Amino acid sequence: MTDLSPTKSDNFTFGLWTVGWQARDPFGDATRAPVDPVETVHRLAELGAAGVTFHDDDLIPFGSDDGRRDDHIKRFRAALDETGLTVPMATTNLFTHPVFKDGAFTSNNRDVRRYALRKVMRNMDLAAELGASTYVFWGGREGSETDAAKDIRAALDRYREGIDLLAQYSIDRGYGLRFAIQPKPNEPRGDILLPTVGHALAFIAGLEHHEMVGVNPEVGHEQMSNLNFVHAIAQALWAGKLFHIDLNGQHGPKFDQDLVFGHGDLLSAFFLVDLLENGGPGGAPAYDGPRHFDYKPMRTEDMTGVWSSAAANMRTYLLLRERAAAFRADPEVQEALATSRVAELAVPTLADGESYDALLADTSAYESFDADAVAGAGYGFGRLDQLAVEHVLGAR
Ligand code: GCO
Ligand code: MN
Repeated sequence: MTDLSPTKSDNFTFGLWTVGWQARDPFGDATRAPVDPVETVHRLAELGAAGVTFHDDDLIPFGSDDGRRDDHIKRFRAALDETGLTVPMATTNLFTHPVFKDGAFTSNNRDVRRYALRKVMRNMDLAAELGASTYVFWGGREGSETDAAKDIRAALDRYREGIDLLAQYSIDRGYGLRFAIQPKPNEPRGDILLPTVGHALAFIAGLEHHEMVGVNPEVGHEQMSNLNFVHAIAQALWAGKLFHIDLNGQHGPKFDQDLVFGHGDLLSAFFLVDLLENGGPGGAPAYDGPRHFDYKPMRTEDMTGVWSSAAANMRTYLLLRERAAAFRADPEVQEALATSRVAELAVPTLADGESYDALLADTSAYESFDADAVAGAGYGFGRLDQLAVEHVLGAR
């Protein structure tokens, strides 16, 4: 087995809010003390991570005056310099303070919307200063609990207005940021706008600066809707819109669990890693951005459990990467893929330059096509699936 110690070249990143989660839930108080972001930077660096990400309020507590704000940034920057950790992505907390209880960009209250835009612009300034290239938008409070409360078409107009304005701001300031919208179906709102990757991609197509806006899909969020995460990532890649990714684990449609990566649907995690690492042309990686973990250490854990769960995310990813390489290299898998005609799907259905007239004239395509004979042959997908399971289990 190959070396499974993460290094910076693996490009693993973590949000400050992940290991820093104090484990407050709707039924119970915090089970852990706050973690100093400076300690997080040092711990993550020791564990082999490459970078760290943050919401404005993770780094600078809400309501800090300018002097305190500068101190927080200075200490954080010093820790980054000492460890060599980077900040490839930043985002805004538009959900914790009660002012955002009806949303930020789509609050019915216009003053809240204006305040939200200012809060984002302020943190975009910091993100650019710290060298971030991606800015994430997770609209956790953009939604409603009752259809009487929200004009959804107006809300989408305001959402677009907000993103268009912020994109223009990044362009005018020369920040070079790319935006990544993060879908989620519900929680904390009863229903959240842009609930899935598909909804987000359709929304992005109508934006003024659509070329600089993509998606930041999170494993558990698609699985909360019982959707196939690997398909969502494949479609985002197909659209050229996979700007960032949030890796974690989830056991199907229920509350957002934010488990360690792989600690949910393990087979889906295997195929996801295979797609990211080997799904590009000639088996090259299909995605070259950070492998970002957005998980929550379980509420039952103390700080030892927090840091070991951070390491577990990276180790599980590397194990799956190694398993995916073994799967691809296995001659029996190659033979099974050929039997299943997997590569044949890449061949266009019509020949180069062939018209529908030529298709109509091709009697082998219809008149003499033996549908019953073709229907009688199996595809062998079950064998492929079992080979994947055996590789995941280390049996091959
Ligand atoms: C969630 C979300 C959040 C966002 C984060 C980035 O689990 O509901 O993942 O943690 O990822 O706020 O904006
Ligand atoms: Mn989540």
